[in-house]
Amino acid sequence: MTRVLSGIAPSGNFTLGNYLGALRHWVSFQDGHDAFYCVVDLHALTTEIDPADVRANTRDAALNLLAIGLDPERCTLFVQSQVPEHTRLTWLLECTATVGELRRMTQFKDKGRGQETVRVGLFTYPCLMAADILLYGAQAVPVGDDQRQHLELAREVAVRFNNRYGETFVVPDAAIPGTGARVMDLQHPERKMSKSSDSPMGTIRLLDTDEEITRKVKRAVTDTDGEMRYDRQAKPGLANLLDLLAAATGRTATEVAADYTRYGELKEDVAAALCQLLGPVRRRRAELEDDPAYVDAVLARGAARAHEVAAATYARAADAMGLLPGPEGA
Ligand code: TYM
Repeated sequence: MTRVLSGIAPSGNFTLGNYLGALRHWVSFQDGHDAFYCVVDLHALTTEIDPADVRANTRDAALNLLAIGLDPERCTLFVQSQVPEHTRLTWLLECTATVGELRRMTQFKDKGRGQETVRVGLFTYPCLMAADILLYGAQAVPVGDDQRQHLELAREVAVRFNNRYGETFVVPDAAIPGTGARVMDLQHPERKMSKSSDSPMGTIRLLDTDEEITRKVKRAVTDTDGEMRYDRQAKPGLANLLDLLAAATGRTATEVAADYTRYGELKEDVAAALCQLLGPVRRRRAELEDDPAYVDAVLARGAARAHEVAAATYARAADAMGLLPGPEGA
């Protein structure tokens, strides 16, 4: 069975971008694959965040992942920091990757820009992400387009490690969807829709009500020439709406564009399709709210299973680099 792994940072409320670019594909990958999904709380520490928020967001993230349809009987759902091999392998990978490689990461450049100080963790973050993936021997990693470069780094690090220290890691592939891989902010269509952005009207949240979704879509920025065609460069706002409807209905953006002449009608259908898509998630989420003990039990079981797999890989990697085994062979 193909091994799959992916992660999401508990750095804010999940967005439509997270859902279309990654999360809904996590649900599909549960069938016929051995899927591991983690809430990457360690990644949330790379920028300033209140400890109380980390704690609350992590639980909230787990609830959301259950609400979208992850089934603990068909996948392993866990919290990254509860499996200690993630940080242990990160060090070995930091001693495999180079400063030059990490400097090229555009996400580091974007997030670090304009900040007075930048945490070391933000710089080395792709090594932690590579560790997440390589620990589980993941062949496929379902992510949105913004993670493409990090995946490439994980592949390079795996290949280099294998060449230098002997065959240890599976070289992973990114699984990036054909539509919905890059959902843009509805108010600023030149930038990606993001959990941590300060653009409330431009960001559709996973748990937004039908009214909120509809209001945001109706106010989405388009352009004034009124010409219905898919062009991400020249007409980014319209292209984003076409992409959204395409992703929600399983068509291509160009096909969708052919069905409309007026922006207003397109917006109505985008809003309706998104309400239909997210409504069931919101309802399942409301049911789950009643049962925090269930969530804790799921995460405890997930961490135990993840630890079994991760410990074996870590031990192989540590041995390959010449580290002596620990007291329990770890
Ligand atoms: P994160 O938490 O920013 O996002 C989680 C997933 O959502 C996707 N995504 C989007 N897709 C389409 N349009 C958007 N606007 C959009 N915004 C986010 C992301 O591509 C991602 O798949 N570093 C990762 C988390 C991570 C990880 C991993 C992923 C840590 N370890 C190991 C895969 C494997 C991150 O910050 O994603």
